[in-house]
Amino acid sequence: MPNPNGDIEWVVHFTNSGSEAIDLAMTMARSYTGNLDLLALRTAYHGPTAAAQSITGIAGWRHPGMPGNVAFVAEPNQYRGIFGEGVDPYLDEIERTIQTATTGQIAGMFIESVQGYGGIIEMPKGYMSGAAERVRAAGGLLIADEVQAGFGRTGDHMWGFEADGVIPDIVVMAKGIGNGFPLGAVVARKHIAAPMAEKFMFHTYGANPTSCAAGRAVLRVIKEDKVQENARDVGAALLERLHALKAKYPAIGDVRGRGLMLAIEMVKDRKTKEPDPETTAAVFEATRDSGIILSKSGAFQSCLRMVPPMCLSMADVDQVHDGLDRAFASL
Ligand SMILES: Cc1ncc(COP(=O)(O)O)c(C=O)c1O
Repeated sequence: MPNPNGDIEWVVHFTNSGSEAIDLAMTMARSYTGNLDLLALRTAYHGPTAAAQSITGIAGWRHPGMPGNVAFVAEPNQYRGIFGEGVDPYLDEIERTIQTATTGQIAGMFIESVQGYGGIIEMPKGYMSGAAERVRAAGGLLIADEVQAGFGRTGDHMWGFEADGVIPDIVVMAKGIGNGFPLGAVVARKHIAAPMAEKFMFHTYGANPTSCAAGRAVLRVIKEDKVQENARDVGAALLERLHALKAKYPAIGDVRGRGLMLAIEMVKDRKTKEPDPETTAAVFEATRDSGIILSKSGAFQSCLRMVPPMCLSMADVDQVHDGLDRAFASL
């Protein structure tokens, strides 16, 4: 965890999953601030539990009857965001939303530094730090959901939020930490977690020794095998190949991401940017013939998301490129 001030004390609570960790972070933020309202982004995904669904913006992941007190702000999507490119209009929207859709005092804002199921939407530089300022001014906390982007996947950093030089108040992590074992964690500034200790909080299987041993081994491997550096280098090579595919196939409207968190977005027309879920589904099916499993993502199911194992090699990049190339050519 970056700690440039050298004076932040952190505590950690282990959970069994990412969504359980999200639930805990929600409770923690509300307990600490005494405020109920939360902000989240429209194309966010934070998990399947009732609480995590309540801050998930994508309709396809939301079931009826979820709890409320969540206001959604426009995601700063630099390709098709409602305010176009740039950061300031999206930050202004946070202020407007606090003023018009909350009590004015909030518990916090959840942000994925790179949205996963949202279709690999990177928070542009200045967004997370600007959001932190505005959220803290309204009494809230910045909560980074690093469940998908964390543990070096974005290549240049261990945590996606580091790209913006911001230090969150709470960080939620899972997935990569256990490499398949059920393990999640909430890391919080000590004084923020403290009020939770006044009541009981217990998971029967939380912090179980087997998962924690796996987590420790994973951390060692990430460091010793230079997994983060691999994500950076192999991801950069794959991104280049995806750009070459975009030059070849007009159905690809956008190519984006960093490290091993990449996506291509399909459109019916590059000018109108009308989403093309049908082509996306066809390419998704066709790439399976090449042994490649992608993920249909995004609010319109028009993105093919690539979040592969972080041991992906340069040789695998060829296979992914060639499989996609064959799939687009076959349409
Ligand atoms: C960003 C993000 N947050 C939270 C979750 C929920 O994690 P879990 O599936 O472990 O409950 C996910 C899972 O995909 C995720 O991608």
